[in-house]
Amino acid sequence: MASSASPVGIIGGSGLYRLLDDAEQVSVRTPFGEPSDPPTVGRLGSRQVVFLPRHGADHRFPPHRVNYRANLWALRTLGVRRVLGPSAVGALRPDLAPGTLVIPDQLVDRTWGRASTFYDDVGAVVHVGLADPYCPQGRQAVRALPDPAMQVVDGGTMIVIQGPRFSTRAESRSNAAAGGTIVGMTGMPEAALARELALCYTSLAVVTDADAGVEAAGAVSHQAVLAEFARSVDRLRTLLGQLVEALPLDDECTCRHALDGLPLPFELP
Ligand code: ADE
Repeated sequence: MASSASPVGIIGGSGLYRLLDDAEQVSVRTPFGEPSDPPTVGRLGSRQVVFLPRHGADHRFPPHRVNYRANLWALRTLGVRRVLGPSAVGALRPDLAPGTLVIPDQLVDRTWGRASTFYDDVGAVVHVGLADPYCPQGRQAVRALPDPAMQVVDGGTMIVIQGPRFSTRAESRSNAAAGGTIVGMTGMPEAALARELALCYTSLAVVTDADAGVEAAGAVSHQAVLAEFARSVDRLRTLLGQLVEALPLDDECTCRHALDGLPLPFELP
């Protein structure tokens, strides 16, 4: 049954460049430049969905060059309030096999030099809270899926490295010793920027490899990551279909109140 709920935004990661059939491409201008590609608007089951390939449909933007601000602004401009962020990640624990879907509940930001706030040079200082960086309702919706299309691990800490290179073995061991469960390159500033726009943001981290420090693992390669992601992508598509149906139809969530009482220098789209 069709609904008038806000569209769900999906930011496709490496290997997920298209999602919707019969979708319309829309061009959106943002004060922060161009999104990675014009978003496509279509349906997944009963829900309207706006899809945006994080790296561009031809994967031209490496993680440190993605215009995360324009991507999230564009989604909000199109009415999105709930965002799902699939991405490929390495495992920092040997029990996390390739193809596992981790729904992290924490992150550690090891990126640098990325445009990581909307509130820069705008005549006001805005500090949003990020103690719990991911949407509780989005994570709950994944947990409650009756028959998830992928093996789901609920919770974990995503370490976000700058890339585009992978970690050394020592860095990888240090990330695991610091409490990391998985390691990726795009989880920040995406999660923080979503919070700065009072959007719900749920990370869907698909394990593609054992990172370099996991005992007895080989070295990670770009080709191996893409090949492994390709093996998971059909199940990920199915899971996204299940998940968009399971998300609440209304927009009410603690994430929506992230900016309450803050001195906003401009209106959100
Ligand atoms: N994305 C997929 N695998 C990764 C890894 N091992 N490190 C960082 N990002 C990744």
